[in-house]
Amino acid sequence: MAAQTANIIGVFDSGIGGLSVLREIHHVLPAHPTLYVADQGHLPYGSRPQTEILAFSDAITRYLLEQGARVIVIACHTASAAALYTLRERYPHIPFVGMEPAVKPAAERTRSGVVGVLSTEATARGALYKRVLQRYARGVRVITQVAPDLVRIAEEQSQHTPAGRAVLERTLRPLIEGGADEIVLGCTHFPFLADAIQEIVGANVALVNPGPAVARQTARLWPVAEQPAAIPNRYVTSGDLPAFQRILTTLIGVHAQPAALKWQASNTAFTVEVG
Ligand code: DGL
Repeated sequence: MAAQTANIIGVFDSGIGGLSVLREIHHVLPAHPTLYVADQGHLPYGSRPQTEILAFSDAITRYLLEQGARVIVIACHTASAAALYTLRERYPHIPFVGMEPAVKPAAERTRSGVVGVLSTEATARGALYKRVLQRYARGVRVITQVAPDLVRIAEEQSQHTPAGRAVLERTLRPLIEGGADEIVLGCTHFPFLADAIQEIVGANVALVNPGPAVARQTARLWPVAEQPAAIPNRYVTSGDLPAFQRILTTLIGVHAQPAALKWQASNTAFTVEVG
């Protein structure tokens, strides 16, 4: 089948967050078709055990490989923390682009010597983040703020409602009071809240969005010998199909007919219903 041999870029996240990375990939590689998987049926990943996140990530990886992925972008800090190293071991023939909180550029740029990091719980307790702090945060104070409610707010796009705004203010207060002048968006959902966050923290605080760097890394890892397929970009979700379609338009201006991804009982395999 054409779809199974087409050379594409596979991208996945627990929900809409990875679209903040996908739009950068489309910008850097406009002729490379992408297949985006939003596992909204299992959202949020951030409060789940590592073994569960790994099982979901592995099943999505197998699906993307079947569909012809030549590079897989784990557009999710949480799934990267739980699964990146294991997936690289299990599928050595395929390059994976993973995500870690972008502490390095923030630590290089901070003038106050204080960096804030917003992430999910699973990212904050993962070994990947500990290594990032050891490697890049020497001489800098890092305030890590676990912010699960912000994932929900981004999915609902409720950041400008009074309730959403109150949660954002409460979440950001320790970073502001701690003197952070760089805030790392350590969850791919958070760039979609950037306007609201910037309003609260003020113009003198920089927000660090790793999306553009991840897109450039994806371009570097695309196997040069492979011609990208001439097919449209595709989108699937394990959540609510009409809601996903609406948010694709709102967040990245895409008018696509997404497909539904149905998980089988084992939770380690799924089928995609098209149309
Ligand atoms: N977008 C995901 C990340 O980058 C996490 C959202 C979730 O908790 O499911 O960490």
